[in-house]
Amino acid sequence: MNDWKTSPGWKTSQERVLSQRQAEGWMFLIEAARDMRTTGAIAPSGKALARTLTGPLRAQPSRPLAVLEAGAGTGAITRALIPHLSPGSHLDIVEPNPRFTARLDHLVATHPHLAGHAGKATVHQTCVERLDTTQRYDVIVSGLPLTNFPPQQVERIMSCFMDLLHPGGTLAYYAYLGTRRARTLTASRAAQRRHATVDEIMTGYQRAYATGRWTVWANLPPAHVWHLQRPTDEKADRSAPCDSEARR
Ligand SMILES: C[S@@+](CC[C@H](N)C(=O)[O-])C[C@H]1O[C@@H](n2cnc3c(N)ncnc32)[C@H](O)[C@@H]1O
Repeated sequence: MNDWKTSPGWKTSQERVLSQRQAEGWMFLIEAARDMRTTGAIAPSGKALARTLTGPLRAQPSRPLAVLEAGAGTGAITRALIPHLSPGSHLDIVEPNPRFTARLDHLVATHPHLAGHAGKATVHQTCVERLDTTQRYDVIVSGLPLTNFPPQQVERIMSCFMDLLHPGGTLAYYAYLGTRRARTLTASRAAQRRHATVDEIMTGYQRAYATGRWTVWANLPPAHVWHLQRPTDEKADRSAPCDSEARR
């Protein structure tokens, strides 16, 4: 008699998770080959990086939070965020690549922590700088490959992030280590200048708003995680200047 556990169709849940991660790894690589500038990496973030990015949620475990994730890819960070959504919290997931949003839709529809909580997490197929929203967030988690973008787009995105935060809200984002050095070896002068200008913009934001920085070595490539906080005592009203585009 055939043992059902040894038949080829049988998989433990751990094996299922593993093959799902492998499929996501391949998908990410294919998207990177298609468009490295916007995909920004050749593999999804590792667990250590994803966990470090959940810090602002873990610091407020019982507060209902409005959370935005920008640049979710295959959902490596989304998967780490969802279990930390306290009752009453909501997660908006923004990702422009339709192949990734299909994956994210599936993740949201099947994640055990979201079962019976329809509408607690919503996927939006758009660019973050095109969000048409008067919504404010307590936490924004960004996986955007900012150092691949033109300086004007980085300015627009960072200004948009600060506008979208409640006063006192936190933006958590990461930046890979060594990308500028790698570019000096491989890229054109113009690309190096663009990268240096983006670094200057980000240094300005870090000087003005940073509340913490962590180095995550257990990621490929290693990365710095930054927390920036929108001041609570701003005089100016930062009303949403982000470009308008209907959400999906
Ligand atoms: C480096 S990947 C990060 C993916 C995922 N968060 C992770 O850590 O594995 C960057 C992601 O940002 C998305 N992206 C690029 N430009 C974007 C934009 N303007 N707004 C929102 N997402 C964007 C890309 O499609 C890609 O999925």
